[in-house]
Amino acid sequence: MTSTMQIALTRPDDWHLHLRDGDALATVLPHSARQFARAIVMPNLRPPVTTVAAATAYRARILAALPAGMAFEPLMTLYLTDSTPVDEIRRAVASEFVRAVKLYPAGATTNSDAGVTNLDRCAAVLTEMERSGLPLLVHGEVTDSKIDVFDREKVFIERVLKPLLVRYPGLKVVFEHITTRDAADFVAACGPNIAATITAHHLLYNRNAIFAGGLRPHYYCLPVLKREVHRQALLRAATSGNPRFFLGTDSAPHPRVSKEVDGGCAGCYTAHAALELYAEAFDAADALHRLEAFASFNGPDFYGLPRNTGSVTLVREAWRPPAAFAYLGGDTLVPLAAGELLRWKMRG
Ligand code: NCD
Ligand code: ZN
Repeated sequence: MTSTMQIALTRPDDWHLHLRDGDALATVLPHSARQFARAIVMPNLRPPVTTVAAATAYRARILAALPAGMAFEPLMTLYLTDSTPVDEIRRAVASEFVRAVKLYPAGATTNSDAGVTNLDRCAAVLTEMERSGLPLLVHGEVTDSKIDVFDREKVFIERVLKPLLVRYPGLKVVFEHITTRDAADFVAACGPNIAATITAHHLLYNRNAIFAGGLRPHYYCLPVLKREVHRQALLRAATSGNPRFFLGTDSAPHPRVSKEVDGGCAGCYTAHAALELYAEAFDAADALHRLEAFASFNGPDFYGLPRNTGSVTLVREAWRPPAAFAYLGGDTLVPLAAGELLRWKMRG
């Protein structure tokens, strides 16, 4: 058997990314800009990005932090709250750079305290989004502490997502960073206005990774890694050719001190090797030929944006990501797969 030695892809995009702000941008932004032409930038800053005015300023800070000679287009999002006014949705649509609105159920994950407590409070906003075609991006986990943490996505589908789609059948929804077979099956059975992003780490690892050889906090993210049956279902969905599944890294940097500590933060940092990690997963499933649509076509097609021109090349070459990057003055950022052998490397 001969194995492919290199693959060229139309320049891809990242449809779910945490870039943070301030000094953090200098470390993480070049990693994403090297691989991706555009990214949907998450609004969970402190304070969250709840207005077009705040998104405009945040976008300007991102562009100012971009190293000379690098091209990268941040696609901005608004953080939905119980009191987001309908006019903010109109301003978002008119801006042409705010591309989506993010629903964090209050308390579901990092910096989600200001999130939505009851979707009924957002009825007018959701009606306007349905009318104008602005997508709703959902962190799909219930926050009910009585529900087992491994079941919160599955329960979210029943309790929140299905009723939402009955009420707003034309709303464009991206079920973000899906982690279960239930979510993959649900999205596959939906109509053309429902899509999902899948991270590289949920394609590569199951929940055992968090405990292998001792507690490994850098494999802790939300929604948390699930059982192997779920990983396999995600891999099948990502490699199925269904255009409603696409790439979203959910690369979520936290300083080492905030990860390697009691009560450590959720989030895996993957921007340093995002494409390589996806290539690893697709290769293992014998589906490298499906990577380009997943990474470069399905996202822009769903969002109604043009596909990118230009290309990136991945070569079959063994390498190891560094143990850490310098981050925020004296701290470090530990990337996923730090020091592990990867078999694909992006050229350039
Ligand atoms: C994200 C973060 O750190 O901002 N963490 C994570 O585990 N994915 C928040 C999120 O997307 O849930
Ligand atoms: Zn995220």
